Amino acid sequence: MKKLLSIFVFIGLLLTSCSSSDDGGEIIIDDPNSNELTYVGTIRSIINSNCTSCHGNPPTNNAPMPLTTYSEVRGAVETRNLLGRINSSTNPMPPTGQLPSGTRQLIEDWVDLGMPEN
Ligand code: HEC
Repeated sequence: MKKLLSIFVFIGLLLTSCSSSDDGGEIIIDDPNSNELTYVGTIRSIINSNCTSCHGNPPTNNAPMPLTTYSEVRGAVETRNLLGRINSSTNPMPPTGQLPSGTRQLIEDWVDLGMPEN
């Protein structure tokens, strides 16, 4: 009987963990049809894959500032011409060449939305 009870408790825990992961699944990453274009949902992973190898904390390879938090990325848009640099054909960021236009568009759309954090 004690064993049966613990099986029920186990199933109960399984059900609880399933329903909480359903909640997390509502944020769709990089889906252009999603209206959840936020720093946490989409932009952070773009920056982490393409920028923080130099713009880490501390920055490396002579990068002048980190881009590892929401406020650092927002600050770079506002005072360091981040959009101009990702779209520059002569002096792009990353220095190896422009990101695909779809990726740059996501960053521009996010700025147009007022840079929501989450
Ligand atoms: C290979 C290293 C490297 C990567 C990767 C890289 N950067 Fe940079 N970044 C630099 C260096 C070095 C500078 C300073 C020289 C310059 O402005 O060109 C810089 C400068 C900048 C500046 C101008 C800062 C200022 O105050 O003038 C911005 C904005 C910027 N990077 C954004 C980005 C973004 C956004 C990404 C990713 C999409 C990125 N960088 C990826 C090395 C890198």
